Amino acid sequence: MFSDSENHRSDPLSGSTADSADKHDQLYVTEAEEAVDELERVSGVHPGYRRAHAGGFCCRASFLPSGKAAPFTTAPHLQDREIKAIVRFSGSSTDPALADLLSPAKGMAVQFALPDGGVTNMVGVTVPVFFARTPSSFMDMLTTLNRTKAGKMPKSEALIHFARHFGESRQSLLALKRLKPPVSYATNLYYCIHVYILVDAEGRRRPVKFEWIPDLGVHTLSIHDAAALPDDYLEKELELRMLSQPPSFKLNIVFGEEGDPTDDPTKRWPSDRARINAGRLVLLEPIAEPRGLLMDPTAVPEGIALSDDPILNFRRETYAESMKRRSGGH
Ligand code: HEM
Repeated sequence: MFSDSENHRSDPLSGSTADSADKHDQLYVTEAEEAVDELERVSGVHPGYRRAHAGGFCCRASFLPSGKAAPFTTAPHLQDREIKAIVRFSGSSTDPALADLLSPAKGMAVQFALPDGGVTNMVGVTVPVFFARTPSSFMDMLTTLNRTKAGKMPKSEALIHFARHFGESRQSLLALKRLKPPVSYATNLYYCIHVYILVDAEGRRRPVKFEWIPDLGVHTLSIHDAAALPDDYLEKELELRMLSQPPSFKLNIVFGEEGDPTDDPTKRWPSDRARINAGRLVLLEPIAEPRGLLMDPTAVPEGIALSDDPILNFRRETYAESMKRRSGGH
């Protein structure tokens, strides 16, 4: 049974937790199983693959922090020391065999290897906002879609469900509509969407968003030109590109101001917010996906805290559930 975000709220800027962690975790585990069941209904079960962003490929990368984020966070990967990273690019579909052209949003998930042997992840996509504000509205939309496709819900009833969420999904649907096929995985701008909290050495907390800006610029293809390319043209293109000149991305950190929402992934912040260039990520070479790779966006080190965004907090158990199923060969 899906509950709404209020049950999971904490105060992100003071750092106090409104609910016990145990209650939070238990609630989310059951909901995560239901969410992954629903994701599996979209295109069936593809054993061994992620239940979303199923098709993708990995590269070895290196992140060189600029040092500009260090006054705002003690996070070890945002100081001044070079950090090894793994990047996984993906299409957003639940079907690993879907042609690149047919899954409009692309993903870029970066796993940083921390000096203490741990990892932290930044997971981005090519649209700046998500379509659902809470786990329960995500489920309502997904269930409605699946039931309508299976002929179990009349279109009129489905329209009522979608109308209920139209306001919150509007920005995301418009952004998706505007997307054109990319020339390369390395010519997309990727948004990590959620708000995170940077914590400095004195314990001061600042809400931020992370964005990856391609040094090559943003370049797209017409649908006509992309349709003439192989289904997996993006992987082939990046492999070739890395042989000649390693592409790179700048990490931008955008600072929120008083009144900017921290708990709503369907909302953008005003475009004039202050931002810093926190470093550069260079893609070095393609690699086979390492065993057990999990890009959990809630795995944050000291110096970074999660915001009160209910979707962000829900992703931990959902990704773990997908991982459990795919690593068990299901
Ligand atoms: C209710 C919200 C969401 C649910 C239920 C969900 C579900 C999932 C699941 C089950 C996976 C596969 C995880 C794995 O097996 O490792 C996944 C992967 C992914 N998701 Fe989400 N997701 C949600 C929100 C988002 C948002 C807001 C973003 C945008 C930043 C996003 C971007 C991605 C990306 C890029 C991947 C691929 C990660 C990789 O390469 O390992 N998801 N998602």
